[in-house]
Amino acid sequence: MRRLLITGVSGFLGWNIARLARHEWDVMGTYFSVKRQIAQTAFTAIDTGRIDLTDFREMREMMAMVKPHAVIHTAALTDPNYCETHADESFRINVEAARNLAGLCGDREIPFVFTSTDLVFDGTQAPYREDDPITPISVYGEHKAQAEMEILERYALAAVCRMPLMFGRRSPSHVSFLQWMVDKMERGDRLPLFKDEYRTPVDAESAARGLLMIARSALPETQEEEERPPISGRLHLGGPERISRYEFGLLVQEIGQFPNARIDPVNLGDITLAAARPPDVSLDSSRARKLGYDPLPLRAALAQILNITLPQPPATDEEDS
Ligand SMILES: NC(=O)c1ccc[n+]([C@@H]2O[C@H](COP(=O)([O-])OP(=O)(O)OC[C@H]3O[C@@H](n4cnc5c(N)ncnc54)[C@H](OP(=O)(O)O)[C@@H]3O)[C@@H](O)[C@H]2O)c1
Repeated sequence: MRRLLITGVSGFLGWNIARLARHEWDVMGTYFSVKRQIAQTAFTAIDTGRIDLTDFREMREMMAMVKPHAVIHTAALTDPNYCETHADESFRINVEAARNLAGLCGDREIPFVFTSTDLVFDGTQAPYREDDPITPISVYGEHKAQAEMEILERYALAAVCRMPLMFGRRSPSHVSFLQWMVDKMERGDRLPLFKDEYRTPVDAESAARGLLMIARSALPETQEEEERPPISGRLHLGGPERISRYEFGLLVQEIGQFPNARIDPVNLGDITLAAARPPDVSLDSSRARKLGYDPLPLRAALAQILNITLPQPPATDEEDS
């Protein structure tokens, strides 16, 4: 079996990728600050190792030991507000580590899939295509944009995947914003949600399938079998629908059937946070769709995650006969 290295497997997306990948790959995942005990009990089906990816020597030794056939890099500092006030720390993991890992993959000529973000855009010209000019307005967005550029300079065959807002099942140590919403709805707590902030969210399992498709495409045997070039360069893995945070909350309330939910529509201007928030970073993901990326519709994804069976549409006369 081919060996896949997933950095940040203790994180929300990394864990979702590992759950799918282990059926097809020999998976090795890295964690950092999660307690060893949690990592060992939570990720029993895959090999894990602790590493600080900001330490280049550790990274090089890990690559020499694991000898992966492909790498999906999800480890990052992902909270834009934290990055805004801890710019040096953000730079070391979000730019330097990403660029160094791309370089090591380039030396070995193995697939390298990087998870960037829709926050490389300022949110005034959506929907965004891959070749639209990048205009980040936060430290996190700036660092991801710089990482994208340096990665592709180091290794032109790298795939730089811009991820949208993601939701899904909680990993043993990280949650998505969906759990925050659900917890508040269950408790009947006030839930302020922006009605003027638009995204193209996707469930983490669909995103993971897309990232695995890209990693697989660049393996030499896949290219021989399918006679098509590896997927590389910039790629948008957005969800199928553009929706505001507020509308998303209403959808969660409807599908999850939370009678106590108290959703408050608010505007971006009503709340001050450390990092500036772009109003609309919806992604045009048609390039990825043409290559086989097929994310679930939001309703179906939410129903799956919340364990709800959606009512079937009434059968038509044709189906009856
Ligand atoms: N979640 C989203 O909605 C979203 C949207 C757009 C883009 N993205 C991108 O998708 C990727 C994954 O995001 P996520 O939400 O899954 O992140 P996450 O849950 O915050 O997980 C981050 C991971 O990075 C690891 N990590 C942090 N610092 C490290 C270091 N110095 N050395 C080694 N590992 C380190 C963490 O390990 P420990 O937990 O063990 O410390 C954790 O496994 C990131 O590149 C992010 O920018 C996410």
